[in-house]
Amino acid sequence: MISQEQLASVINDWWYYSVELAPGVVTKGADTPRTPMLPRMMMRNCDLAGMACLDIGSMEGLIPALMARKGASRVVATDAIPHCAKKMDVLKAAYGVQFDFHQIGLIYDLSTKLAPYGGFDFINLSGVLYHVFSPMHVLAGVRPLLKKNGLMVVSTNVIKRGDHTLTFNHQGSLQRELNTFWYHSVPMLDYLLRTFKLVPIDFLFCPHTEVNPNNFVPGLPSGYMSVVCRATDDVDGNEPDAWTAHMRRASWEYIGLCNNAMLDAQPVSQIRYTGAGAPEARGLSLMEHIDEPHRIVATVDDPQNSQTLRLGDLS
Ligand SMILES: C[S@@+](CC[C@H](N)C(=O)[O-])C[C@H]1O[C@@H](n2cnc3c(N)ncnc32)[C@H](O)[C@@H]1O
Repeated sequence: MISQEQLASVINDWWYYSVELAPGVVTKGADTPRTPMLPRMMMRNCDLAGMACLDIGSMEGLIPALMARKGASRVVATDAIPHCAKKMDVLKAAYGVQFDFHQIGLIYDLSTKLAPYGGFDFINLSGVLYHVFSPMHVLAGVRPLLKKNGLMVVSTNVIKRGDHTLTFNHQGSLQRELNTFWYHSVPMLDYLLRTFKLVPIDFLFCPHTEVNPNNFVPGLPSGYMSVVCRATDDVDGNEPDAWTAHMRRASWEYIGLCNNAMLDAQPVSQIRYTGAGAPEARGLSLMEHIDEPHRIVATVDDPQNSQTLRLGDLS
């Protein structure tokens, strides 16, 4: 329970998430209660009890608070700058949870910036890849922080078409938002994950619709995708193809930006995925499964699947 002073200090601030800070008192978040929060739904199937967890781009800390409530042994929240620090502290007090906050600046080179934490069993990388000039540079920095066999949720905007492309937000045609640069085609996201030794094992897709005029582009099959990936080694034929295998060994960018020594030295995580998922060895093709009805989440009724956090929520 927080004090009236703590409540008053933040209740009228701008909030990204809708957070119940005292019984019945909920901040006014940026999204509607019916907008799905796919990474939250995907994280529900990850057994975080006793696990070391990292969240990237945490805003007020909804995901870190849930990581803590799910029994994580350690939770590290991050953001470019501490722009939500005061709200995050009040949220922590209201929910009786503890987690660290680490200011990371731009999301590049995280294996260097976060090296003192060692490895994580679970990493959430959601809502950030479309915000950066170079998504590959980000993945190369994050991947070495994941323990072997660890789980990473990667969520970003995609376009449902069969090629391997990134579409640039030319003249703000995808979104007027000023920090939005790239949407991946679905096969491109799939390929990129595998390039960084992440096998997609489950995912959800929220098509952009008229409901949200900020990201709906008539005629463009875009949407938000959240993918649970299992960290894999290059065993059992898990390399995407021969070119990627050579590229990983020889390209200046991969060698220079993806700390392979750190990646290889990570201990093995015991983290369990409890969702239906896919047989894990080869994972599943995002494009082949995107039309499955149970993967398409356009709106939600249950607030626990949205960006609304309530005092009783455990996941
Ligand atoms: C759209 S919010 C997503 C918040 C949260 N991860 C989620 O999925 O609900 C983007 C987050 O990334 C951070 N961010 C955006 N661009 C960034 C950049 N270039 N470098 C570092 N952080 C960035 C923002 O401060 C914010 O925390």
